[in-house]
Amino acid sequence: KNIIVSSGAKQALMVALQAILDPQDEVLFPAPYWVSYPDMVKLCGAIPVPVVPEDGTFTPTMEDITQNVSSYTKAIIINSPNNPSGAVYPAEFIKEIVEYTEKKGIYLIMDDIYQKLVYNGVKAANPYDYVKDFSDNSKLIVINGVSKAYAMTGFRIGWAIGNTKLIKAMANIQGHQTSGPSILLQKAAIGAINGVQSSVESLRVTLENNRRVLVNHLKAFDGVHLIEPQGTFYSFADFSAFEKDSTKLSKLLLDKVRVLTVPGVEFGMEGHLRISFCGSIKDITEGMERIKWAIDPNSPNELYIGDRKLVRDWK
Ligand SMILES: Cc1ncc(COP(=O)(O)O)c(C=O)c1O
Repeated sequence: KNIIVSSGAKQALMVALQAILDPQDEVLFPAPYWVSYPDMVKLCGAIPVPVVPEDGTFTPTMEDITQNVSSYTKAIIINSPNNPSGAVYPAEFIKEIVEYTEKKGIYLIMDDIYQKLVYNGVKAANPYDYVKDFSDNSKLIVINGVSKAYAMTGFRIGWAIGNTKLIKAMANIQGHQTSGPSILLQKAAIGAINGVQSSVESLRVTLENNRRVLVNHLKAFDGVHLIEPQGTFYSFADFSAFEKDSTKLSKLLLDKVRVLTVPGVEFGMEGHLRISFCGSIKDITEGMERIKWAIDPNSPNELYIGDRKLVRDWK
């Protein structure tokens, strides 16, 4: 009664927003944020309110949040570990926001999809550790799924946990959209969740190693500013010393050296690039060497990719 299974965490989030939002409601979320939040909120006729941490980090303070809460605020979305920054918000912040939203009667949507992908001993706080109200008045909605920790993205299985009235409303909406997710894929997800968990740890250890390699490359890159990711499989580095327009820079890297990055402006922070550390160490190293060659004015004029010779004909 407290859980709905959806076609990915993405549908669980969308249906949750459809269930709670009225036109003109405001939904707060810290920046940088997952690209879909603003559009999901707008699709409900509501207003996205991104909150950029004032101290220049990727970690909001309660003051950042409360300063932006108005009488129209219906919900706050918290995504920690965070896509794109990899920031893991401190337990103290999670505690305070759980208590604050409970007191104010604002929905708190915790997008915990990267919860298990954390590195170097860092832990993602569990919001339920701080909940006082477990009744049907609870406005906490926790989102998760199998896409990340089990690398089962294509299976499209996610879920939301919330009060029984909310889950009933969500089931009603989802029933008219897509009905339930495929029973076969639900069984596969149950297999993953109840099966041997060593694959999750092995993925985490592989990513921890990849992260170290990418972070070392980025830190050695003169002019690039990085706040190291503590979770997820993304880094979000500031390349504005080379190019302020992240869309332009991302396009240059794709066109000229075939490296895929995502422009920071899509996540609400211009000047940054999201670089994934999902691939192999060889690909990460090769990708970073190509980026450096493409944008560092001091690099040689020619680069070989296999037996293909590239000549730098841009500035
Ligand atoms: C922060 C965040 N939330 C939700 C999702 C959606 O995950 P799913 O594949 O389960 O729909 C993603 C996927 O990229 C994500 O990064």
